[in-house]
Amino acid sequence: MNRLERDISEVLLGEDEIDQKVKELAQKIYEDYREKDLILVSILKGSVVFLVHLMKYLPIGFAIDFIEISTYEGTKSTGVVRLIADVRESIEGKDVLIIEDIVDTGLTLAYLKENLLTRRPRSLKICVLLDKYERRQIKVDLDYVGFSIPDKFVVGYGLDYNERYRNLPYIGVLKPEIFSSE
Ligand code: IMP
Repeated sequence: MNRLERDISEVLLGEDEIDQKVKELAQKIYEDYREKDLILVSILKGSVVFLVHLMKYLPIGFAIDFIEISTYEGTKSTGVVRLIADVRESIEGKDVLIIEDIVDTGLTLAYLKENLLTRRPRSLKICVLLDKYERRQIKVDLDYVGFSIPDKFVVGYGLDYNERYRNLPYIGVLKPEIFSSE
């Protein structure tokens, strides 16, 4: 067991299970977008691992772009959404699919959806790997969802706690003592 793994109390979703789900999501996206002008907008930094795996299973032409947003400090949402970096290309007239790792309160995606809609994309949908539905504060329509998960702080597969644990290949629950001093 390595140093990172010692901080994990439970593996919630294993590598194979995640891989299978990503394949299924890619298949649905393929069917819906094969005739469209698709651009995948990945929300940095947590969704990059998910994006890369999704791309591998998506045999159609598409562009990728990135937006960096922050709402979290440690394990708590600050409730204040900050746009740190915007997409590089115009999304006007494009079929935009937002790629996000996890929805928690919903504040990030609600903000982002409203912001991107003002730029007149042809369509705008959301694909999330994890839905922590119990903590929702604002309604957001999710078009593609990988897994619904309980209200636990999870890391791995791109998700972090204070920038660490992103490189774990699975999604695990962080031991409460790691963040209890917050
Ligand atoms: P929301 O705005 O509250 O929906 O939060 C979404 C963002 O919070 C995600 O993009 C993650 O960066 C972060 N987040 C929420 N829950 C977790 C978690 O359990 N582990 C790691 N990051 C999380």
